[in-house]
Amino acid sequence: MEKLKAEVREKGLKYHIITYGCQMNMHESEKIAGILESIGYMPADSKEDADFILFNTCCVRENAEQKTFGNVGRIKKLKQANKELLVSVCGCMMQQESAAKKLMETFPFVDIVFGTHNLYELPEMILACKSGTGRIYSAPETEELHDDVPQKRAEGPLASVNIMYGCNNFCSYCIVPYVRGRERSRSAEDVISEVSGLVSAGYREVMLLGQNVNSYDGGINFARLLGRICEETDIPRIRFMTSHPKDLSDELIEVVAAYPQICRHIHLPVQSGSSRILQEMNRKYTRETYISLVKKIRRKIPGIAVTTDIIVGFPGETEADFEDTLSLVGELRFDSAFTFVYSPRSGTRAAEMPDQVEEAVQTERIMKLVALQNKITEERNREYEGKTVEVLVEGTSTRNPGHVCGRTSTSKMVNFEGSGALIGSFVNVKITQGKKTTLFGTLAEEET
Ligand code: SAH
Ligand code: SF4
Ligand code: F3S
Repeated sequence: MEKLKAEVREKGLKYHIITYGCQMNMHESEKIAGILESIGYMPADSKEDADFILFNTCCVRENAEQKTFGNVGRIKKLKQANKELLVSVCGCMMQQESAAKKLMETFPFVDIVFGTHNLYELPEMILACKSGTGRIYSAPETEELHDDVPQKRAEGPLASVNIMYGCNNFCSYCIVPYVRGRERSRSAEDVISEVSGLVSAGYREVMLLGQNVNSYDGGINFARLLGRICEETDIPRIRFMTSHPKDLSDELIEVVAAYPQICRHIHLPVQSGSSRILQEMNRKYTRETYISLVKKIRRKIPGIAVTTDIIVGFPGETEADFEDTLSLVGELRFDSAFTFVYSPRSGTRAAEMPDQVEEAVQTERIMKLVALQNKITEERNREYEGKTVEVLVEGTSTRNPGHVCGRTSTSKMVNFEGSGALIGSFVNVKITQGKKTTLFGTLAEEET
């Protein structure tokens, strides 16, 4: 290993990571970057400039997989131009043996393929590959936790913290339990000490990550974990995702209500407004219990934003089922929603179900749903006009360099005129305009 480190430093080798998928994957890429930097690699400005290119993949829907194939294919030219270049593909898609084999056959220039459980072994894999072992494929199914790895976090005041890995829910459409394994929670002590460390390092907001944070069990439950983080650390803001509606407890609602540092936002994927489809999806709640849960959350935590995920065109979804989804969306008026066309994933139960919905029907339904939700999102954002909100400034606006942007506790993106010196601080902003994706405003007064 020392020889590898010396070689990496001597040659000034650089890495570039391309990430697909969810926050979990984004955070895992921060760990990969941390590991690569621990053996001497430096960040490259672009993939053209890199000696190690890594794709961290997602397979939750088919288009995520197609994108990966397209983009890995385009690396071939770079590989021909730079003999030193190593190409690696990892993550959820590579945890499926068939997808990994197909990728390796299609792209003989890919050097290292690994799954979701063994990124901590990356230095050994690079070493083996460089010492002439040839191509490496390693995607063990182990469920051990190896999360004591260096992390190179993105710049800015926000940080992600894993509290658990894997998923036990087996929603009938979903590949995640197959590629991420069973639920494993980190101990509360580990999580709390990571958050304390982040506070000392200057981070102002943490996002606690898990596929279903409500089933966290690290000696204490999730509500207690949140309470302890609030009591034992000075982190000004805490977010979490994702919450499964089936086990969001009253205790959790009370904890969120009790601590102002827990953000007024809950992401609560509903998936469908039809109880029949929810049962087919194995979601373990009904339309009615979901609606009363959202109403209870809003009653107990006034001003909280509720966002969701919705799938249209699940096998067997009739026009009436879809109307149920539209009416639920109309009734609950989510702050925003991620909407997806159902994508069959091989190995899942839903992929084998009869009555797969035709593409034309799926397209028509998603367009209707998106139009309805867009209208609601914009109306919800307009409700902010004239109000003053607290914003944690995250960075400069990409469109307007004289402007900065950040989020409210309710997770609304706010854009306003201000200097980059504000990044990392909490400021009050008076909202002048609420648009579909962003609120616009003016700086009211500065807090610290
Ligand atoms: N653990 C989280 C998120 C998992 S993936 C949860 O339970 O909500 C994020 C979203 O992708 C899901 O909420 C779902 O709406 C969507 N999704 C998952 N599998 C899908 C599939 N096969 N086709 C279309 N959308 C899917
Ligand atoms: Fe997938 Fe369901 Fe687990 Fe979420 S809870 S990751 S949708 S199986
Ligand atoms: Fe996330 Fe995609 Fe994997 S959504 S858990 S990166 S399959």
